[in-house]
Amino acid sequence: MEFELNDEQLALQQTARRFAREQIAPVAAHYDQSGEFPRELLKKTWELGLINTCVPAEYGGIGVGILESCLIIEELAWGCSGITTSIMCNDLGLMPIVVAGSEDQKKEWLGSCTDDFKLVSFCLSEPEAGSDVAGLQLLAEKDGDDYVLNGTKCWITNGGEADIYTVFATMDRSSRHKGVCAFVVARDTPGLEPGKKEDKMGQRASDTRVVHFDNVRVPASQRLGEESQGFKIAMQTLDRTRPCIGALAVGIADRALDESVAYAKERKAFGFPIGNFQAVQFMLADMAKDIEASRLLTLQSAWMVDRGLRASKNSAFAKCFATDAAMRATTDAVQVFGGNGYTKDYPVEKLMRDAKLMQIYEGTNQIQRLVIARELLKE
Ligand code: CAA
Repeated sequence: MEFELNDEQLALQQTARRFAREQIAPVAAHYDQSGEFPRELLKKTWELGLINTCVPAEYGGIGVGILESCLIIEELAWGCSGITTSIMCNDLGLMPIVVAGSEDQKKEWLGSCTDDFKLVSFCLSEPEAGSDVAGLQLLAEKDGDDYVLNGTKCWITNGGEADIYTVFATMDRSSRHKGVCAFVVARDTPGLEPGKKEDKMGQRASDTRVVHFDNVRVPASQRLGEESQGFKIAMQTLDRTRPCIGALAVGIADRALDESVAYAKERKAFGFPIGNFQAVQFMLADMAKDIEASRLLTLQSAWMVDRGLRASKNSAFAKCFATDAAMRATTDAVQVFGGNGYTKDYPVEKLMRDAKLMQIYEGTNQIQRLVIARELLKE
């Protein structure tokens, strides 16, 4: 077993680290407070090859695996997880095409994102179907060679900013998961209309919206896989992207630890730096050990995905453990900072708000436990 990164991995990690520290971290508070969308910053990640990392080299991508994507994401998230969620969303949106697209579809849609700077959205959740994907209601009706989509998606990252949407719809609501079908839809297709932007507690730099589909006509050439394969395409996508949420969580927790260690050395109480006291030391130690465990689970699940192994259980381990650990680490970071931590003058309250979302999106941590338990019982 080899725990060392190779030269290419170290170079990617360094590029992402430099970008996060020089370009993301200094503007993170601005985007958090204003809720503006950091489009120009995202464009720079495209110029550097830090976005669309799931796109294979033959379609213009940098040709790396999920493991390398995780290394990049961890670094970017140290700078700002809201901005990083917008970056990662391209991989989430493109993954169904990587998993199930035909050669022509890959050339067209993956290629268009590497030729030009484009944003992508993954449209799965609905007002009445968040955790219960098989219960989705957005209807796809066959009309000649086309499909006509009607319904509403919600909690869609990049929803108002994307150029390309991968959309999951049902052809027969009573068939549950067997009725689900996946499509690629361009933003300028008539009837596709982004709705209200959510005013979120954290990760405020990412654009989260409702997206309406009103008689959206999609040619059969934009259907991914067979008509009944949409549910499995969604699950296979999430198996591949959940390690990346683990990496995002490691990045936030690592930032919480760095800020806490620096503060514990500076801030004095009872005549000594607060880092001298075991009450503070134990919180720092818990953060550090949880970060290391989260990182190992994340990289192991990514390694499994890259080897083509089914990683449902391990991806759920990584997503669930790392995001719960990040929630604890950021909450403890606020505690280390005391009253200062509860103000916007210091960076840790943002980390705590940002971390909360990670226990909810890409499958709540309750759903991750369900996935793990089902895999155990199957074994
Ligand atoms: N890979 C391949 N096939 C799979 C699979 C997987 N990982 N998981 C399930 N399947 C197959 C099953 O084998 C079964 O196949 P058969 O029909 O051949 O028997 C079929 O799919 C149905 O599986 P289940 O019976 O397990 O389905 P279920 O309805 O009980 O639901 C669930 C399973 C795990 C709860 C699923 O609905 C789920 O993952 N929910 C969470 C959804 C989620 O993560 N949403 C996040 C949205 S994205 C987001 O948040 C993004 C953002 O913008 C940041």
